[in-house]
Amino acid sequence: MGLYILGIESSCDDTSAAVSNDTHILANTVANQDIHRNFGGVVPELASRAHQQNIIPVIEHALKQANISKNQLHAIAFTRGPGLLGSLLVGGSFAKSMALALGIPIIEVDHMQAHILAHFISNEKKTVPLFPFLCLTVSGGHTQIVKVNDHFDMEILGQTIDDAAGEAFDKASKIMGETYPGGPVIQRLSQKGNSDAIRFPKPDIPDLNFSFSGLKTSFLYHIRDQLKSNPHYVEENKNDLAASIQKTIVEILTEKLKQAAQLHNIDQIAIAGGVSANAALRDKLKELGKKHQWDVFIPRFEYTTDNAAMIAITAYFKYLKKDYSSLKVAPYTRHKSHPREMK
Ligand code: KG4
Ligand code: ZN
Repeated sequence: MGLYILGIESSCDDTSAAVSNDTHILANTVANQDIHRNFGGVVPELASRAHQQNIIPVIEHALKQANISKNQLHAIAFTRGPGLLGSLLVGGSFAKSMALALGIPIIEVDHMQAHILAHFISNEKKTVPLFPFLCLTVSGGHTQIVKVNDHFDMEILGQTIDDAAGEAFDKASKIMGETYPGGPVIQRLSQKGNSDAIRFPKPDIPDLNFSFSGLKTSFLYHIRDQLKSNPHYVEENKNDLAASIQKTIVEILTEKLKQAAQLHNIDQIAIAGGVSANAALRDKLKELGKKHQWDVFIPRFEYTTDNAAMIAITAYFKYLKKDYSSLKVAPYTRHKSHPREMK
């Protein structure tokens, strides 16, 4: 029969509910919020309102798709943080009330841990990374290289000192007058572009840390300078601009990942988070995997951007340890500085 867990994710602008049966995902419903599209980023107040509208239909849809009744659930899991406060409150409060009504435990989940643990969702190939493995976790709010020693023992080896990789995609899209989220837009434009057309400088950051704010500025200045002589520069060169910035972001990410693998002598390499949906990053990782004889783990597309399946799978491992939460638990919007505090 197995354990049935309802996972709820509402940390940013996607409302998602998933039902798991042990490590199998029976349903994973995501409602994206299109209202942010023309704002160049997520508007927190609009996000929490949309979560309130979406949460009941999304959960109902997931339960229906999983073909189980709410009375069969063993626990309800929700994202405690990091994320936007108003958004987190919607999912957290709903999880608490529903669990209270059903008389079952609630389980809090850390969003970034969940992105990584999505690799333990059962898949056709029946492959999971072996501990310790490295995970490049790249999203709209984070860019980290994490050494995963165990499901809940994770060490951040390096991280961004300013913008996240996803933000670099989002800002590049915005600068070119395109919509949010920028990652899929840049990827689409890149397909017809020359990735060597424009050279953007890569940051010189020590250790395994990253920086993306300089790249954003050089992208902006390059466009500003070119517009002086050609007012149609962006329209005429959009594909090349997109392909060139995408290549630079992928190189910045994978160069550090390569360094981390060598330094820690680890050959189990994974990627996770919204930016891991990027085809150029996925291809580059596969290429590096062949070259360096790594076992490479790339999540299924639906488990890259925010989803509740990753919340349910994380909660499954917590349930096994009886690591339940109190009804008093409050959201957190940011991480404390050390990964061992990623609870
Ligand atoms: O993990 P996620 O859904 O939300 C956060 O936890 O932040 O990541 C969202 C980020 C956005 O910055 C979005 O532009 C980026 O992931 N993203 C992509 C792609 N799809 C989403 N970046 C590059 N290529 C993509 N195909
Ligand atoms: Zn995320």
